[in-house]
Amino acid sequence: MTNAATSPTLLRDYTPFSHLVDHVDLQFKLHPTATRVTARIKFRPNPVAPGQGFFLHGEQLKLIHATIDGTPVSPEISDTGLTCDVPDGPFTWEAEVEIAPETNTALEGLYMSNGMYCTQCEAEGFRKITYYPDRPDVMAPFDVTIECDLPVLLSNGNPVASGQWSDPWPKPAYLFALVAGDLVAVSGDFTTASGREVRLNIWVRRGDEGRCDYALDALKRSMRWDEEVYGREYDLDVFNIVAVDDFNMGAMENKGLNIFNSKYVLASPDTATDGDYANIEAIIAHEYFHNWTGNRITCRDWFQLCLKEGLTVFRDQQFSGDMRSQAVQRIEDVLTLRARQFREDNGPLAHPVRPEEYQEINNFYTATVYEKGAEVIGMLKRLVGDDGYKSALDLYFDRHDGDAATIEDWLNVFEDATGRDLGQFKRWYQQPGTPRLSVSETFNNGTYTLHFEQENPKAPHPQVIPIAVGLLSPNGDEVQPTDVLEMTETRQSFSFEGLASKPVPSLLRGFSAPVILQRNVTAADHAFLLTHDTDPFNRWEAGRALAKHGLTAMLVDGAAPDPLYLDGIATLVQDDTLDPAFRALTLGLPSQDDMAQSLFDAGVTPDPLSIYRARKMLLGAMAARLGEVIPDLRAALTPHGPYSPDAENAGKRALRNALLSLQTHLDTAPASQQFAAADNMTDQLAAFSALLQVGAGADVTAAFYDQWKGDRLVLDKWFALQTSLAPPEQAVEIARDLSDHADFNWKNPNRFRSVIGGFAMNAAGFHDPSGAGYDFVADWLIQLDGLNPQTAARMSTAFDTMARYDADRQALMRAALERIAAKPDLSRDMAEMVGRMLK
Ligand code: ARG
Ligand code: ZN
Repeated sequence: MTNAATSPTLLRDYTPFSHLVDHVDLQFKLHPTATRVTARIKFRPNPVAPGQGFFLHGEQLKLIHATIDGTPVSPEISDTGLTCDVPDGPFTWEAEVEIAPETNTALEGLYMSNGMYCTQCEAEGFRKITYYPDRPDVMAPFDVTIECDLPVLLSNGNPVASGQWSDPWPKPAYLFALVAGDLVAVSGDFTTASGREVRLNIWVRRGDEGRCDYALDALKRSMRWDEEVYGREYDLDVFNIVAVDDFNMGAMENKGLNIFNSKYVLASPDTATDGDYANIEAIIAHEYFHNWTGNRITCRDWFQLCLKEGLTVFRDQQFSGDMRSQAVQRIEDVLTLRARQFREDNGPLAHPVRPEEYQEINNFYTATVYEKGAEVIGMLKRLVGDDGYKSALDLYFDRHDGDAATIEDWLNVFEDATGRDLGQFKRWYQQPGTPRLSVSETFNNGTYTLHFEQENPKAPHPQVIPIAVGLLSPNGDEVQPTDVLEMTETRQSFSFEGLASKPVPSLLRGFSAPVILQRNVTAADHAFLLTHDTDPFNRWEAGRALAKHGLTAMLVDGAAPDPLYLDGIATLVQDDTLDPAFRALTLGLPSQDDMAQSLFDAGVTPDPLSIYRARKMLLGAMAARLGEVIPDLRAALTPHGPYSPDAENAGKRALRNALLSLQTHLDTAPASQQFAAADNMTDQLAAFSALLQVGAGADVTAAFYDQWKGDRLVLDKWFALQTSLAPPEQAVEIARDLSDHADFNWKNPNRFRSVIGGFAMNAAGFHDPSGAGYDFVADWLIQLDGLNPQTAARMSTAFDTMARYDADRQALMRAALERIAAKPDLSRDMAEMVGRMLK
């Protein structure tokens, strides 16, 4: 029997735990195959949950002994935990268990990576370490003792003695962490606003200490920013970060001991791109910000995950915008939202920002919970204003510090701080699906009226939609500065009076709500906004809409590339009053996946290969249109002095490399030269990609490998670029060969994602009409499921677009999913994902 039959966990079934935990004392005797963990836990009956049976979670544990108040007990043990008769009053539970970190390939609980011990307990990993009420609403202070020969022994809180730690802040078990290894630290100091001296350490493998400076700097900036913007200070004497090579996700906010995937810590100019630096800055900030939004205030249960994740993503986006450019940050955030969240929301994996049921909570660390969760907070802020937001957040920290809170608590602080009724707004947390917002307009006697209609294909009730609108006169002047319309009805109209002529509207400025705007706009109007809009987001959006319009015409009517688009882009890219980073973004075409979804929405069955060819043709036309100006433009953008990852220099490189990529469609020599001469990974990788994209990558592929074969993080890039950029006809074969490469280690999640995940993102290759791409991915998911269910289940989302495609492809995708579903002993993680997609 598989785990597929497990009954789901439901939001409405929430009940508090029978007991409160006053204190936890943990002792670890670390050993690769026989670690002993002794837990001494002080329980006391929970006054609000009287008379419930005593149940402790526990999985894959060998119980050595258990006592209550020193007297041996014999609990009743199952696959998921134990029950035991307990005294009516307070008591001390002690249990010793044995676990085997070395054979823990799921990378959840206590496991080993390159000879070091580390943990990942969110969401439900602590139950693989000891018997415990492993749920976020049970919070306690922890003391930890670690015995091991390795030199560096870390846990949460403040250090007491060698291998001894004490965390005074009550926390749920998912925030527990332990690390033991032969590590070196790059350290710094930070003084908080109220004068606490904090020691900062970034712990890495020996040899990596030269790549920690940026992470340390990002940490200091995050700490300062949270004090200045949210009034939040750090609350321990040390803040430790550890980089781990084998990690299922990006990073983890364990109290005082953040554990990171090493790709989000380590950076040097020759090995990390500007994008890597930006990710490191964002993720360091994200995990640090969790100290308040997640740790000091945690979640009552896992249905409330967006309470900490949506808010913390929102905060890290604000931070990155402050460190860089708000306009560019917003465009990048919306690109991610649309690529990942809109896709999820429009397929079989759609779920509300606050889900109401799950089989395996690890499957709900999704773009909907994270990115849409952040958008919902952005809307809330737009509706209540900056001051309202600030008073609500102050009240939230004040009222809920130390709590395990809910979305109701969160909305209540906004209601109490601002007096606003958020009953309807709450639907953003409850209803799945992306609302479609259609618009028409009328103009009469100087009055311009916008008529909106909202429809959510996955939910019945109208949602509150803040629509930021500006109006431009036909000569390009702004006649109505940005105004936020508040739509609450299914159909609603808004008028602007006293206009001399019919204006051109700029709608949903700054992407003021996560909706799909449906409006019949001529290419000429898009081109007008591309030139004149004063809102940078909408200016970029106009270019994108024009590109989509043109690509659609190429695909559906066999049209030639749109000269309006080519001219508009050519003007904009040469406008040196505009930020180069912004100009680089306007050169980006809608992705394969974006085009497939738009065609599908327009009632056209997408063919990935045709999309691939149309995009390539348009890129060729852009190159031809810009050809002559590219060399001078690129020369003018050459940064001076040594490499620096700051936003200004990164922006110049982004534009310079976007132009290189176009230029390579005409001539491969400049990219080859840049590849050979590059003194930083951004430029080297950009040249490598440019050459791969035009099928001229053979030499540089070999050269790059020779240069970087000793560097695990750079080698991940080498694998990922080849699988994701392989030409459609060869993609499966290339991916297959790379999965046979001596450096392919399928047990390492980063490497697996580079090869198998990289290939799954190569839309034309993955969707090869033979079905070979589907089979390749399915075979690997079946293999990985036995080893690491969480990472395997996550990647199964490659199949979530099935419904878009033609009947033949659908049948092949379905067959691949059914093959996965039929695997004996399929994990609960994968069973849930595949089940939802096959429904
Ligand atoms: N809380 C972490 C973060 O977003 C994510 C950890 C998720 N891990 C997991 N196994 N589900 O920062
Ligand atoms: Zn997070």
